[in-house]
Amino acid sequence: MDTTSVPVIELRQVTKTFGRGTAAMQALRGVDLVIQSGEFVAVMGPSGSGKSTCMNILGCLDTPTTGSYLFQGVTVGSLSRDQRAILRRHYLGFIFQGYNLLNRTTALENVELPLIYRGDPVEVRHQRAQEALAAVGLSGWEHHTPGELSGGQQQRVAIARAIVTQPAVLLADEPTGNLDTARSQEIMDILTRLNFDQGITIVMVTHEPDMAAYARRTVHFRDGLVVPEHEIQHEGGA
Ligand SMILES: Nc1ncnc2c1ncn2[C@@H]1O[C@H](COP(=O)(O)OP(=O)(O)OP(=O)(O)O)[C@@H](O)[C@H]1O
Ligand SMILES: [Mg+2]
Repeated sequence: MDTTSVPVIELRQVTKTFGRGTAAMQALRGVDLVIQSGEFVAVMGPSGSGKSTCMNILGCLDTPTTGSYLFQGVTVGSLSRDQRAILRRHYLGFIFQGYNLLNRTTALENVELPLIYRGDPVEVRHQRAQEALAAVGLSGWEHHTPGELSGGQQQRVAIARAIVTQPAVLLADEPTGNLDTARSQEIMDILTRLNFDQGITIVMVTHEPDMAAYARRTVHFRDGLVVPEHEIQHEGGA
């Protein structure tokens, strides 16, 4: 098989229902999505359209109700819990809007955390974490805690933590949602460089067209579905 043509990510008719019975809420209603290795994709769409639900499934933080998720051609649903943990720890990086850093822990220790989870030895952890912090322009800030860093710096620590495992795919859910324009552009420059220089596939949710413009393709969500390309062109005139 020619593995170079296998998409890094493929969703086939993915649905996600939260709750049961009359309280059931269908957040995803049959999402088809194909992302090739090396792509930088922006995900846009109204609040509640299912973007975060979809990202959580891509990040193996949640599972589809029906349909399938293939990662590099492998059906994620057929993996054991341990195998899924390996997928999460070795192949996927996740950046959240709210940074999710440990507050009383230094930048270096925050970045090392994913390597601790996967059992890397201490020397490897230190070196990789230092390299990741350097990649986001935070050399010299290793021993500061999040409270001693600005919002933009905290988000850069979160990016360093997401890339320290050298993932194939970086998933970012509104990574600039809490930042002003200048700080947002710094984050986008970092993501662009990671995509271009390191070939990391990036999937990024954003509400801001200026941020989506950094990506090479935009996927639009509406009512739990991906809007087909030909309908987006109609929307342009609306
Ligand atoms: N854990 C959950 N339990 C119940 N309902 C949920 C849960 N997570 C999401 N939902 C619902 O699923 C729908 C989609 O939510 P989701 O968070 O994916 O939207 P979104 O596109 O990311 O919106 P936003 O732009 O506001 O972040 C919403 O109606 C939401 O209330
Ligand atoms: Mg969301």
